[in-house]
Amino acid sequence: TKGAAMVTAVASRVQAQRKQIDKVLALFQLTQEQLKAVQGKMRTEFEYGLKRDTHLLATVKMLPTYVCGMPDGTEKGKFLALDLGGTNFRVLLVKIRSGRRSVRMYNKIFAIPLEIMQGTGEELFDHIVQCIADFLDYMGLKGAQLPLGFTFSFPCRQTSIDKGTLIEWTKGFKATDCEGEDVVDMLREAIKRRNEFDLDIVAIVNDTVGTMMTCGHEDPNCEIGLIAGTGSNMCYMEEMKNIELVEGDEGKMCINTEWGGFGDNGCIDDIRTQYDEKVDEGSLNPGKQRYEKMTSGMYLGEIVRQILIDLTKHGLLFRGQISERLRTRGIFETKFLSQIESDRLALLQVRRILQQLGLDSTCEDSIVVKEVCGAVSRRAAQLYGAGLAAIVEKRREDQGLENLKVTVGVDGTLYKLHPHFSRILQETVKELAPRCDVTLMLSEDGSGKGAALITAVAKRLQQAQKE
Ligand code: GLC
Repeated sequence: TKGAAMVTAVASRVQAQRKQIDKVLALFQLTQEQLKAVQGKMRTEFEYGLKRDTHLLATVKMLPTYVCGMPDGTEKGKFLALDLGGTNFRVLLVKIRSGRRSVRMYNKIFAIPLEIMQGTGEELFDHIVQCIADFLDYMGLKGAQLPLGFTFSFPCRQTSIDKGTLIEWTKGFKATDCEGEDVVDMLREAIKRRNEFDLDIVAIVNDTVGTMMTCGHEDPNCEIGLIAGTGSNMCYMEEMKNIELVEGDEGKMCINTEWGGFGDNGCIDDIRTQYDEKVDEGSLNPGKQRYEKMTSGMYLGEIVRQILIDLTKHGLLFRGQISERLRTRGIFETKFLSQIESDRLALLQVRRILQQLGLDSTCEDSIVVKEVCGAVSRRAAQLYGAGLAAIVEKRREDQGLENLKVTVGVDGTLYKLHPHFSRILQETVKELAPRCDVTLMLSEDGSGKGAALITAVAKRLQQAQKE
């Protein structure tokens, strides 16, 4: 009968649509072999970055940090720390008490307006110094000359612990006249321009390094730092004899890998999708930081948005209507992805979140959106896992060990907020590096506390040298 025929027609259309959606989702499902290949290529890039002959061409920069030792528990004193490069700019006062390994912190968060992030370098540093002045006033510390550690979470070429030339901006920053400049000098000059107070800038620190240090303060097995936040990066302790760019063969030094640039030579193009390419094209730094753009908080929501646009174009979502909202960059922040993917959330609540974002969805739509978010964040966690597996295996082999036990200090909004990210990351490392026993340790406020610890160690060494 006619009725029955119509039901079949509708059913087969639904089936066809489902197939199309599944096809898109499948692009994000990586096989074990693909992940193994990513792990292997990452390992190759590590070696290129470390070798003098290939270093300058390497996409994973493997930057020496001049951080050579972990805190030993004798560090103490009051320090200022700055934290630039995540979601916010923060100024902190950190009090470290020796022996008991206890740390007290006071901090103030300041927004960095977009026009300053992407204005001139002078404006950016003047703004930073303005924030420091506010903080010192607020804490009643205007006259105090405290040693300062500057967490600056961008790739810097360092020749000592207190010198760092910005190689290039990443994430949402694009201030002019900074690339190729020493950011510590830029900060010093801005302080001079203001002519109100003086600061003793002791160290410039990447957030991964601060994170590793913070965990190292509690767990001596911690030799790796990982950030899964706005950006994606990892650092680890490397044997000096493997670091060709730095004189000396004794001991270890922390290497900031800047693995976000992995793939910039096209080596993972086989697993990149058209959506990844779209996100890259619309970013501030097209062609750069390709791995970061597949894994970190600043971009995952954008990948989701690109997929939703495409599905909508094909009439598979939102009744085929691409709203102005859906066309708006940056609407899916990490916190929304995390909420949407929470298991405890009923579909009705997913719809409510989408509504908050200005996306009018049916119940079916919300199911699809949730699946898309899941596929994108799962791939991100697996890619992180492949990268982490590459470093722990390298460390195990370098030390000639049958098995390696290692702790990884981790920080970042994606890691902290997302309901499944850390579990998938952990599972992937276990599969890809079965001989390594990897403990992920959440670093509470790694970039602030870590910068202070590094400053404390550097200050101690400075003083030892003087005596
Ligand atoms: C970007 C930066 C890197 C930082 C990471 C996490 O990848 O280039 O220096 O560690 O973001 O914030």
